Amino acid sequence: MSTTLDVRSLPLVPKNPLPIRQLVSLVRRLDTGQEVIRDAGGPITRIQFGPKWVYPPIVAVMSPNGMRDVLGRSDASSERCIYHDEVRNMAGDSLWVLPNDLWRPRKRALQPVFTKHNVRNFGGHMSGAAQAFVDRWPDGGDVDLDVECRRVAMQSLGRSVLGVDLNERGDTIARCMHVASSYTTDRALRPARAPRWLPTPARRKTRKAVAEMKVITDEMVRACRTDPTRDAPLVRALMDARDPETGLPIDDDDISNDLLIFMLAGHDTTSTALTYALWVLGHHPDAQARVAAEAAAIGDRELTPEDVPQLGYTVQVLHEALRLCPPAAGVARMATRDIAVDGYRVEAGTLVAVGLYGLHHDPQLWPNPMEFDPERFSPENVKARNRWQFLPFLGGGRPCIGEHFARLETTLALATIVRAMEIRSTDDFFECEVPLTTVAKGPIRAHLRPRN
Ligand code: HEM
Repeated sequence: MSTTLDVRSLPLVPKNPLPIRQLVSLVRRLDTGQEVIRDAGGPITRIQFGPKWVYPPIVAVMSPNGMRDVLGRSDASSERCIYHDEVRNMAGDSLWVLPNDLWRPRKRALQPVFTKHNVRNFGGHMSGAAQAFVDRWPDGGDVDLDVECRRVAMQSLGRSVLGVDLNERGDTIARCMHVASSYTTDRALRPARAPRWLPTPARRKTRKAVAEMKVITDEMVRACRTDPTRDAPLVRALMDARDPETGLPIDDDDISNDLLIFMLAGHDTTSTALTYALWVLGHHPDAQARVAAEAAAIGDRELTPEDVPQLGYTVQVLHEALRLCPPAAGVARMATRDIAVDGYRVEAGTLVAVGLYGLHHDPQLWPNPMEFDPERFSPENVKARNRWQFLPFLGGGRPCIGEHFARLETTLALATIVRAMEIRSTDDFFECEVPLTTVAKGPIRAHLRPRN
């Protein structure tokens, strides 16, 4: 790692040449805005909205080396930022929002729960939820893939994370999550924010939404404490988790916060990944037929985590979907000291915007970046590629803890649905918005026909 002296000798990141007014609106468009910013200023570029005391300088990073330099560290120089602070203030201490020093013991306790092997103990519910989708449409018909996939993701997460069928409470959680996400992003992007103690209508609404979700997660933790036979393996695993260095458990309030954040971090993301993958297959009948054949070769029975090694092409399709439409279009960090990023100096106090969408769509890295081509993820192509070039779950010191779980869930769901249904997408575009993570902006229409 570079010394401070090295960093000081590096040039500052070049300033983006676009006019401020245009940059203000591009920064709010958290996915496609990145491409315009990158094309004008390069894959590492600086944006300054005025004096530093009004809003910190932003450095947008979209190059593989830049990713390595920012994400390869979880020390105090690449810290949580205003986004995380806002979520922490609203929803309490959870794995996602804790600053690095407080995060480390929590991560040590939680990591063993989310290993590739262990997620099979609580993550196999997606097949059942996907099968329920298939069963709702025995004769096929016109569907909104977004609505269906949200239902699938909520049903599966409810069972996996909380150990219950959420049923109508799923809608409450989805609504509350949307309120909380939109409020947080909006506040984080404002140059001037009302003080936190001021009870603005938006703040009151968000507090109420978070409280509604907390009722559900608190109730689950209490139920598991009082009933030792309750079937909720993830909640139990959190209760049993210990920091391997100190032996300390996680207290119940923090377990409840973590459950809430798993729902928040896991719902829209898996739902968008699945919706996009189905929509794109609905435009590519050949790739779709290959996924269907791969799943059919396993048989008619419910797919299980043990089947995933037989679903190699399905996984390639999912990777290509995650490249084209990364559910987390970008993440942010605060540089707490000067750091070297891709040959430039990023000064302490800079908001580092890590642009996954810009990285995944860079024509220098991905020929014909808008084209759907699952062969990009064939084992040989993956081996030949820079590992910092494809990061839907991030990488380095503080990646997504739910990665194995999400991969398992989406693979089983995609294979289950495509094995049973032929999909023809009727919308040419997948319109998105980015309240925090990327979600469909409106209905994603498709026609389903049962395969016999
Ligand atoms: C396709 C699905 C998913 C994608 C693309 C995804 C992506 C990401 C990304 C990019 C981050 C980094 C955020 C940041 O640093 O600010 C993250 C963090 C996180 N994700 Fe996921 N995620 C997915 C599913 C899930 C699921 C299913 C869960 C839980 C069951 C989950 C739980 C978390 C948590 C707790 C963090 C914070 C980790 C930490 O700071 O140590 N994610 N995810």
